[in-house]
Amino acid sequence: MKKTSERLLSVILAVVIMLTAVVPSFAYSREEFWENLWNEEYNNGVVLFPGSDNSEMNVSWYSETESTPKVLVTEELVFDNAKEFTGYSVAAPDGDFANKVTITGLEPGKTYRYKCISEGFESNEYFFETDANEDEFSAIYMTDIHISHDDNNPNGIKESAMKFNSLLDEAVLKSNASILLSAGDQASEGYETEYKGLASAAALKMIPIATTIGNHDRKHIAYKTFNNVPNEDDPVISSYVGSDYWFTKGDVLFLVMDSNNASGIDHRRFVKEAVKANPRAKWKVMMAHHDLYSGRLPNRESENELLRLLWAPIADEFKIDLVLLGHSHYYTVSNVMYNNEAVQPYSSTMTNPKGTVYMVSGSITRPRNDSDLGLNEEWIGFANTPDQQAIYNVLDFTSNSITVSSYYQGQDEAFNSYKIEKSTAQGGHPNSTPPLYNMFIRFIGTVYAMFNNIGIYNDLKDAGVEINFFEALLG
Ligand SMILES: [Fe+2]
Repeated sequence: MKKTSERLLSVILAVVIMLTAVVPSFAYSREEFWENLWNEEYNNGVVLFPGSDNSEMNVSWYSETESTPKVLVTEELVFDNAKEFTGYSVAAPDGDFANKVTITGLEPGKTYRYKCISEGFESNEYFFETDANEDEFSAIYMTDIHISHDDNNPNGIKESAMKFNSLLDEAVLKSNASILLSAGDQASEGYETEYKGLASAAALKMIPIATTIGNHDRKHIAYKTFNNVPNEDDPVISSYVGSDYWFTKGDVLFLVMDSNNASGIDHRRFVKEAVKANPRAKWKVMMAHHDLYSGRLPNRESENELLRLLWAPIADEFKIDLVLLGHSHYYTVSNVMYNNEAVQPYSSTMTNPKGTVYMVSGSITRPRNDSDLGLNEEWIGFANTPDQQAIYNVLDFTSNSITVSSYYQGQDEAFNSYKIEKSTAQGGHPNSTPPLYNMFIRFIGTVYAMFNNIGIYNDLKDAGVEINFFEALLG
């Protein structure tokens, strides 16, 4: 059993690291605190994921042995009367076991302390807070975090994780957000070591991260056992490491999509079911990995054209307000889009927009500097001047608006800010029935996804991964 002082270490470290994000002259350097946190937390990978709604929180961590994991949760300073939540553990590809527990029965405006226990392991104590007013909360949106294994740098994971940790601390201090939305490529190679690096961030013990599958997350199979997400779809065809899932916060329905998987039949059915299951959701925010409209990388336009054929009709039909994307590593915000056309210009306040706004943010650790850089000026309403700075975005939700503010690391003022206002759940969205040929496109996408999985299977086999052919084929 750990001493109380040891148990409190991570909480103290988390607070101090957050302080040092804005007070660089603090007695200890940020590097020293990061070193302590890394040594204390890296191996267990304790991390929060969103539950199905605000009454739940999902927890995941790694351990060396299989057991029935449990999380103790209390509103008090000691755990004597703590509630116990049990879950399950699954074998992770690198020899560990990934433990999954869902905490239920959470109430608004409370602070909960928790600790994770599995055979041979007892975590430090951490805490999280629930939103006091469920319809008014803030979220952080980042993409392409790219915690990176580097064959030529044994500290590659640690260094990229520290950069992410530092940026996330700054974003949390700025926003008081209760969730991090991450639009894919959390890892560069898809290794468990990289996901442990991601989970080492102090703030991810206090706010959940909603992750999206990026093309890099699919380069190995550790993502499949890393995450612990609610309402995950069981599709006909998936991309093997995960599927679409949804959750709500107040009156916002978040639809987290796997854009690696072209199975249009599955995606449309999933969104239809999620929307039907949440009839009171006023706002619909979709998150996926692949950039659709920016045109920043001209060599990807043929791929983007196909992706737009698949995704835009779904956003139109189900009246998606905002789509958060990544992949290109370039920051852009679209005009209001409907039927793959700009129907209303981007502006600082868009009231009852007649379609969907698509946003892409920059990478955290891998900013690009391409020589061949395009921009689709017909579709894109705002683009920053590409540079090497890390970006985070704060989304402030109220029952009538979503305000998005985008910041460069270390700068107090947002370099871009815009607001989407709606007076009703429908807002300005037109009613849309997809034309019949969309059904054919979705079917072709599903067939393509299955054959594409054969290529993924071969890639994984070449990388030394033990994987069943039929599991890989269907996902
Ligand atoms: Fe990326």
